[in-house]
Amino acid sequence: MKRLNNKTAIITGAAGGMGAATARLFAMEGARVMATDIQEAPLQEWVTAAQQEGLAIEYMVHDVASENDWSSTVDRTISLFGHLDILVNNAGVFPGFTNCEETTKDLWDKVIAINLTGPFLGCKACIPHLRKAGGGSVVNIASIAGLVGGNGVAYSSSKGGLCLLSKDLAVTLAKDKIRVNTICPGAVLTPMTKDLLASPDMQEMIRNMSPQGRVGEAIEIANGALYLASDESLFVTGTELVIDGGAVAR
Ligand SMILES: NC(=O)c1ccc[n+]([C@@H]2O[C@H](COP(=O)([O-])OP(=O)(O)OC[C@H]3O[C@@H](n4cnc5c(N)ncnc54)[C@H](O)[C@@H]3O)[C@@H](O)[C@H]2O)c1
Repeated sequence: MKRLNNKTAIITGAAGGMGAATARLFAMEGARVMATDIQEAPLQEWVTAAQQEGLAIEYMVHDVASENDWSSTVDRTISLFGHLDILVNNAGVFPGFTNCEETTKDLWDKVIAINLTGPFLGCKACIPHLRKAGGGSVVNIASIAGLVGGNGVAYSSSKGGLCLLSKDLAVTLAKDKIRVNTICPGAVLTPMTKDLLASPDMQEMIRNMSPQGRVGEAIEIANGALYLASDESLFVTGTELVIDGGAVAR
């Protein structure tokens, strides 16, 4: 028995990295998946290949900061799949380790719009459909930067906000059987971090930061999202699943 049989999911930021790994894993576990991203070419390329393998994945170009885009994405998902059970708010941007004085208001607004307002709009658009389906699971991809400081003021604030957005929704939506959880990844090798992690200084910092002395892989985050999306975690809501090789345990 596959772990997401008869479930449907929207996964944002799925052109590569953790979003693509999660979308692919969910489809392999029996879900029908709408994979979205602002970047069309890489998204289309891997989704087309996955469709040829027989996986039930569709894609849409979607800016998570746009309320209109959310409306079109949800409408198309419902018209293709009939109902919605799972939302993974994964799209995000990392503007670097910029401190308060270095951060312009434009940069702050952009990071908050994508990393925090995006998931808020996604929840607003999807909750009525999750409720209609009799319940569901929202998985928000934050970061260990949302738990501890020193990772850039706008990024940390957006991810810390996302942890509390999840908790607030977990409390208010429990009566509707909608669970809302957060994953806080540590450093993971993806298109977002490829250049950053290529630097020897950064590799040294990761080795010192993580008791495991390594970065994570996208599939290790996708495995956590699978647990939180599936019925194996029916008693889990309002929590943060930290997947970081022990970095914040220090
Ligand atoms: N890689 C890491 O070390 C790390 C660590 C902690 C948290 N995260 C978080 O994990 C999530 C996935 O990141 P990733 O590492 O796979 O990087 P990634 O860059 O591969 O994925 C992020 C995706 O979001 C998309 N995106 C950016 N702005 C968007 C918008 N306005 N609308 C729709 N899509 C948009 C990008 O095109 C990209 O495909 C992000 O939220 C990131 O903040 C990453």
